Amino acid sequence: MTDIFEFSHRKPRFAVIGNPVSHSKSPEIHRMFGEQAGIELDYTAIHIDSGGLEQAIRNMQAGGFLGLNVTIPFKQKVYALSDHLSLNAQIARAVNTVRFDPNDIIFGDNTDGIGLVNDLESNLNREIRDSRLLIIGAGGAVRGILGPLLSAKPESLVIANRTFDKAVSLANSFSWAGSINASSFHQLHGKKFDIIVNGTSTSLTGENLHLPNTIFSKESLAYDMMYGDKETPFMNWARANGVGQAIDGLGMLVEQAAASFELWHQKRPDTLPVIRSLR
Ligand code: ATR
Repeated sequence: MTDIFEFSHRKPRFAVIGNPVSHSKSPEIHRMFGEQAGIELDYTAIHIDSGGLEQAIRNMQAGGFLGLNVTIPFKQKVYALSDHLSLNAQIARAVNTVRFDPNDIIFGDNTDGIGLVNDLESNLNREIRDSRLLIIGAGGAVRGILGPLLSAKPESLVIANRTFDKAVSLANSFSWAGSINASSFHQLHGKKFDIIVNGTSTSLTGENLHLPNTIFSKESLAYDMMYGDKETPFMNWARANGVGQAIDGLGMLVEQAAASFELWHQKRPDTLPVIRSLR
């Protein structure tokens, strides 16, 4: 484990905190961004025990860290610990990026939704405006992306969840932000969408989603927010059922990292070479 109490570093220090976190690609991504920008930085992955989150953050703040990325399972807890919050973090009720500001202020931001929107629009050339979006899942990961997705003005956004009540409650809480409706899996029969996003945890667990296999078309994109070394089960299933394009969430990961980098360094990295290099 990285020694977070070793504070003699000269380079600006950053970390991704999580549990588990050893698999994280964030250190590599930020190293590549730093090289592009000519900034020498020290970015490590730090495993935090679930009871030790607040103390670890205070230690890093006192020790001169400038910022953190936050991953599973701490995004909601860091939201609660933040002194100031960006609008996206307030809407998501979760923080994936921390900036340590003067006077011991913890500023919490959330760049997950912007990361997804930028990957869809800039890297995959899928216009969200006026398109029909289907988001599968209604947990924390989905709440984190809804604000920026609705700001991009889709024609419609449907949230479908195995537990229908959770989809209803999430759709209700975002009704102020745009055209959003809840659906059960069964109610998707006969409906088509331009962009279908898997925001459930099934690609982690390998479980099947019991969705109608008619939701895809050869014009549509199936997007899995998860990524791994192989194609995800959702991507394979979408391809087998006629989707035009299927992609994992590696681009979203790099884009959310780019937005964090910009918050910390006021420089926008070039993401495509980094995505290519990771693939
Ligand atoms: P996260 O923070 O990653 O979003 P979560 O809040 O536990 O995690 O949410 C997990 C999501 O994956 C939920 O939408 C869950 O559906 P339920 O609300 O019905 O539990 C969904 N999910 C997990 N396993 C699933 C499965 N086998 N089939 C369909 N949906 C599943």
